[in-house]
Amino acid sequence: SVDVKVDALLAKMTLQEKIGQLHQLSGREATGPESAKRASQLAEIETGNVGSMLNVKGAQDTRAMQALALKSRLKIPLLFGLDVIHGYKTVFPVPLGEAASWDLEAIERSAQVAAREASAAGLHWTFAPMVDIGRDPRWGRVMEGAGEDTYLGAQIARARVKGFQGARLGSTDRIMATAKHFAAYGAAIAGRDYNAVDMSLQQLYEVYLPPFKAAADAGVATFMNSFNSLNGVPATGSALLQRDILKGAWKYPGFVVSDWASIKEMVPHGYAADEADAAVKALNAGSDMDMEGEVYIAHLAQAVKAGKVPQKNVDDAVRRILRKKFEMGLFDDPYRFSDPKREQVVLADPQHRAAARDVARKSLVLLKNERNVLPLAKSGRRIAVIGPLADSKRDLEGGWVVSDVRGDVVTLLQGIRGQAPGAQVSYAAACAPGCANADGFAAAVDAAAKADVIVLAVGETWDMSGEAKSRTDIGLPGRQTELFQRLKATGKPVVAVLFAGRPMIFNEIADQADAILYAWFPGSEGGNAVADVLFGDYNPSGKLPATFPRNLGQIPITYAQTMTGRPVVDEKNIVYRSAYIDSPNTPRYAFGHGKSYTEFGYSGLRLDKATLRQGESATLSFELENKGKVAGTEIAQLYVRDMVASIVRPVKELKGFAKVQLQPGERRRVTFTIDPDTLSFFNGQLKWGAEPGAFKLMVGSASDDIRLDTTLQLQ
Ligand code: IFM
Repeated sequence: SVDVKVDALLAKMTLQEKIGQLHQLSGREATGPESAKRASQLAEIETGNVGSMLNVKGAQDTRAMQALALKSRLKIPLLFGLDVIHGYKTVFPVPLGEAASWDLEAIERSAQVAAREASAAGLHWTFAPMVDIGRDPRWGRVMEGAGEDTYLGAQIARARVKGFQGARLGSTDRIMATAKHFAAYGAAIAGRDYNAVDMSLQQLYEVYLPPFKAAADAGVATFMNSFNSLNGVPATGSALLQRDILKGAWKYPGFVVSDWASIKEMVPHGYAADEADAAVKALNAGSDMDMEGEVYIAHLAQAVKAGKVPQKNVDDAVRRILRKKFEMGLFDDPYRFSDPKREQVVLADPQHRAAARDVARKSLVLLKNERNVLPLAKSGRRIAVIGPLADSKRDLEGGWVVSDVRGDVVTLLQGIRGQAPGAQVSYAAACAPGCANADGFAAAVDAAAKADVIVLAVGETWDMSGEAKSRTDIGLPGRQTELFQRLKATGKPVVAVLFAGRPMIFNEIADQADAILYAWFPGSEGGNAVADVLFGDYNPSGKLPATFPRNLGQIPITYAQTMTGRPVVDEKNIVYRSAYIDSPNTPRYAFGHGKSYTEFGYSGLRLDKATLRQGESATLSFELENKGKVAGTEIAQLYVRDMVASIVRPVKELKGFAKVQLQPGERRRVTFTIDPDTLSFFNGQLKWGAEPGAFKLMVGSASDDIRLDTTLQLQ
């Protein structure tokens, strides 16, 4: 078995060789032009002082680095990792956008295509999925996750792991995945990246850990720890997270890679005296591999000799890493992923573009559609396509695009022109992305005045969300709101298409635009996907995976807020209520919101038993009907509220959803199972379980659009 092989190899290794396996090096220099650093890194690889590399890609470069590693005494192959976050050559929507599809199959397929392309480019491992819950849209990395909800986040975590890895490790068209960032990185105070996190263990267990647990249960090969401190301890040095919870309670067999230099960052954190101390604290706490920190390779040998790091901790870390190398088949053939011929063929597969278009269409969220201004007719109309993002390629890709050989991006303008050859399409950028000046506004207004309808493409630029891209103002950058107002003043209907990596605040557009389509950063096929929806070739079905606030003061914000003693029951009566006095207390758009070109009816709620004994399941069902004239897909949502409990519970929590496609007039009975987990939570002793009493079960089209409800008693 693999364990026998690992032990046999371990027995041959010197301490230095073991520590080499824990060292991950970025390959930018090693694969770059001649330099002293390059020469020394190549020598390190050849000596066996490097166990893994990141940022080396392409069959040729990975082959070259692997050949060096195989010159080392024990010929242990390298693992190549990269941030393949939403596609490799073919760029898929950013993960938050994909999450808006609530489509687990499509999300799995996206990860599978990314894995197919990345593995053909010699890669073994992606640093994805990011499964951090994000409830603060100021935090730029909400773009990389699945939004604010624990249940949805856990389902998507599982789908992404399955997509990247397949049923088991070792197939050459799949790669190892990473559940990151362990843990609670998304709860950085004030949404500022890398900031401290202070949270009750109860909230940690209940809201932030379940997507990680779901990824672990799905067999995710690795975990990455996080830059933040959690309740005073840097995650990298947290034995609670890595040893007690992950490797202890969850019995996780994979390995933990640090985030970039996060081990030595325990020095500026004020948690380690120096880099040697940081290495000791991280390894003992369960961080197995040092990403680009160079502190394990520099200090661990001495620390072991001095008795500060037990040999068994080093052996455990090495074992975990070697196990993955065996499981990936690298000892059988270290070059099995690095085949230039396969790379060429796979990266040219046209089916990958089709998959990207499919996922992108499913990720689009129709926020508003007054007087059915959408869908647009394809011919006989004059369409003015306006805005700084209307013909931008780079902005449609979003952050974390990592391959140098990328497919061409279809812009919104190209998508519209391609699909509506019978329409008269005019175009004016009005301003450059970022929209710093209004020099082009007059020409844009002119084009708008001559059209029947305006399609306005505005939003963030690709580099305004992602890592280290926290914003204090999540409104439309530059003068884009002013542009909207100038266009609206023409009296022509305005369809706003918003591109972004986070929920933005855009109240003027929300109030005055005729239609709004939230497109996130939709990827290589973005322009086609948006045009599919604008012209009705695809009926939009996306639902928001995160709450959109009205203003910054409402942040952090979630639909699943904890009950209070003074809730707002009636917006007209907020005196001495838990409320803001200067803003409506509802969000701009609620979690789960998203419109369709048809209407769905909910009726006939049935619960097969009104009382449940502990451990039993119940069945809740209802009739869903397409009441409109076109086929459509509804994402029906199940929410639960525990009415009285030993810990104050959220006002509602998502516990199920069903994505159902219906023809006009078609009805279908949709069923949810209420199992013991549906009603459970972590109590004051952090024990998972359900408490007797009443539960309100709610079914609806959004968290603020509950159509049917009933009560279940648990005995
Ligand atoms: O994977 C990333 C991580 O999410 C943030 N820091 C750098 C890592 C490697 O690029």
